[in-house]
Amino acid sequence: MLLSLRVRELELKNRVVVSPMAMYSAIDGVPQDFHLVHLGARALGGAALVFVEMTAPCPEGRITPGCTGLWNEAQMQAFKRIVDFAHASGAGAKMGLQLGHSGPKGSTQVGWETPDEPLPEGNWPLLAASTVAYGPNNQVPQAMTRADMDRLKAQFAQSTRYAVDAGFDWLELHCAHGYLLSSFITPLTNQRSDAYGGSLENRCRYPLEVFSAMRAAWPEHLPMSVRISAHDWAPGGNTADDAVAMARLFKAAGCDFIDVSSGQTTRAARPVYGRMYQTPFADRIRNEVGIQTIAVGAISQADQVNSIIAAGRADLCALGRPHLADPAWTLHEAARLQSRQVHWPPPYLRGRDQLYREILKQKEA
Ligand SMILES: Cc1cc2nc3c(=O)[nH]c(=O)nc-3n(C[C@H](O)[C@H](O)[C@H](O)COP(=O)(O)O)c2cc1C
Repeated sequence: MLLSLRVRELELKNRVVVSPMAMYSAIDGVPQDFHLVHLGARALGGAALVFVEMTAPCPEGRITPGCTGLWNEAQMQAFKRIVDFAHASGAGAKMGLQLGHSGPKGSTQVGWETPDEPLPEGNWPLLAASTVAYGPNNQVPQAMTRADMDRLKAQFAQSTRYAVDAGFDWLELHCAHGYLLSSFITPLTNQRSDAYGGSLENRCRYPLEVFSAMRAAWPEHLPMSVRISAHDWAPGGNTADDAVAMARLFKAAGCDFIDVSSGQTTRAARPVYGRMYQTPFADRIRNEVGIQTIAVGAISQADQVNSIIAAGRADLCALGRPHLADPAWTLHEAARLQSRQVHWPPPYLRGRDQLYREILKQKEA
């Protein structure tokens, strides 16, 4: 867990990642002081890479009115303040941005209301691969035209340039969970009869075009990842075999890492949950395709991270909800293992010494 990793020219101090998580606390797409404190605390908390939540390249690409965006200078400056804080803190955490467009799951309510359901008022029109609504109450999206595709690709590239200006270290393209690019990849929502529908290669064509436009705007020495739904968990949907094929296509386009999630592409999904339940997909992709992977999903203990990394099932482990419960998850898990190979921010050192002593006493009792 505490081994470092070099990706392109970026050095990650360990294998723990704060998974991207929507906070629904932005105003007009601009991250607020909440984000500075939330992401700053996690940057101080020991993880090597801290992802910002899914951030939209245009206003209609947000999931909810509280989601972050990166289509203007004010948003860039607000992100820069957060990234600068993380870098200047001395904690050594790198900052990642996840860019994504909500597609058929946009214009919905924040996480603590009724997620994935439309807003009571003020809804905006939706775009997707095809005219397939996410659920009975969701709007029917418009199928993207060539002009829509060109415009959005340019917006993703512009957001990427803003991400460079903000100083981000890592860029991820969100192609999972039923959002716009995912709506192209899964056959359950892609009914196109043009070059962007049909075979898996065709369904991945637009996400790959967006990825390539972003890769061209993102510095050569910095890494990029793609988050995929490796399984739709529904009849007729993508399976792990398709995920392996997708990973091959993104690898060929210059992707460094596949961030391996699953599901949320259809309400018909029946996922098989369990500890580390998505790790087998990360394992297959890593070892069959020869691309680095991030394992994510129900990973909650250092022992699990250590076994995933040591067994070569993934190269990084992203933890979501554990980091909502504990911003300093990595520091606390290292203390539990009495490992000293972890850097505590100097102002917190007296707290570290006390914690290690207490844990040692408990172990000896
Ligand atoms: C509050 C919340 C918000 C999330 N927002 C995002 C997001 O913006 N982008 C994304 O790819 N996944 C998002 N996820 C999924 C997490 O990144 C992660 O994949 C999922 O929670 C499983 O990991 P865990 O078991 O460690 O929580 C979110 C999850 C939670 C709990």
